[in-house]
Amino acid sequence: MSDDAKGMAPSRRQFLTGAAAAGAGAVAAGAGRAAAPDPLITEVQDWASGLGDGVDVTPYGLPIEYESDVVRRNVEWLTADTISSINFTPIHALDGTITPQGCAFERHHSGAIELRKEDYRLMINGLVDTPLVFTYADLERFPRENRVYFCECAANSGMEWAGAQLNGAQFTHGMIHNMEYSGVPLRTLLEEAGVSPQSKWVYVEGADASSNGRSIPLEKAMDDVLVAFKANGEALRKEHGYPVRLVVPGWEGNLWIKWLRRVEVMDQPVESREETSKYTDTLANGISRKWTWEMDAKSVITSPSPQAPVTHGKGPLVITGLAWSGRGAISGVDVSLDGGKTWQQARLAAPGADKALTRFYLDINWDGAEMLLQSRARDTSGYVQPTKAQLREVRGLNSIYHNNAIQTWWVKANGEAENVEVS
Ligand code: MTE
Ligand code: CO
Repeated sequence: MSDDAKGMAPSRRQFLTGAAAAGAGAVAAGAGRAAAPDPLITEVQDWASGLGDGVDVTPYGLPIEYESDVVRRNVEWLTADTISSINFTPIHALDGTITPQGCAFERHHSGAIELRKEDYRLMINGLVDTPLVFTYADLERFPRENRVYFCECAANSGMEWAGAQLNGAQFTHGMIHNMEYSGVPLRTLLEEAGVSPQSKWVYVEGADASSNGRSIPLEKAMDDVLVAFKANGEALRKEHGYPVRLVVPGWEGNLWIKWLRRVEVMDQPVESREETSKYTDTLANGISRKWTWEMDAKSVITSPSPQAPVTHGKGPLVITGLAWSGRGAISGVDVSLDGGKTWQQARLAAPGADKALTRFYLDINWDGAEMLLQSRARDTSGYVQPTKAQLREVRGLNSIYHNNAIQTWWVKANGEAENVEVS
């Protein structure tokens, strides 16, 4: 409780801090402030003395101008150009779990193309009884499912292998988004074409110049893969594969083919013909790690973090972040304030959902002393997110992909935060 609130009658105090206190228990009391002369309360403001916009001003709404810094950002030196490149979701500024499409990270190998629904075709060929071609309108006639899943690029946190590098959760962990997809199970379309008994793989490719062709085991294709055309209730945005993309739950983003145009059923993966497959991890002993499709459990504190410093000084502080696992649901998240020496269990905003982001909170009464903030995710398979040291022991320093190590933010006494490593 803040000093100035102490002298107030209980009922009044309750009024000022009631909402926060009710939700979060004891530590939230004191986040309100004592009533004092304030022109924002005592004077009539501009917005209350004129009229607002009419309902015909914004046929499709964008965020208000005051939120204009909550945008995707790219890192100029990371790639040679912005066409075959990546940008990052502003996870430090978001809450909840659903990523709005407008600020969800983009990864293209040959740019985001524009493809009209009328020009869209999806072919299923290869080891099938009847090769088929679907138009967009055809796809809309199959029974649909709605599912929320995260999509994480295998390169997420890839710059952090050798040491703390990028100063912000957006840049270290922002190659991720989480949307509600509406679409047709790939299984339904494959069954329509009739899969031959010797089939073991599907080769999937997009309509863009890169095509981003990848092989996926038939077992996964017949399990939970979706041919999706809506995200968060509306059409996919161009940059996420309009009009149709593949959703491959829990598996690395590279398999989530955008502008999906062809699924070829095969008896072997196309990549087995190449010397090294895409997204290979080189281990400490020089041996390569391939076929690493599932994204291991991972978490990050989104606030406070370098782009989201503590601006209100000591007292009630909401620590929050995201956790996810490609192998199931998040079963718990632990948070450390002292660089991993001691841990406390965070509060999950909702029970962990399968292969989707989980929001966690730890509501503390910050004493104003510096902190080494960490979060550690656990999933339903029993897996616990490793430290950087543990991960480097098996994977070395030369990896690029699949870095799911525990992240540390050094929150200083002045509330600023920095990306650091603890030994
Ligand atoms: N699909 C096509 N056709 N072309 C691409 O360049 N990039 C892949 C995948 N699907 C890509 C693609 C990669 S590496 C990732 S991480 C995801 O799309 C990113 O999806 P997003 O741009 O919707 O975030
Ligand atoms: Co990727």
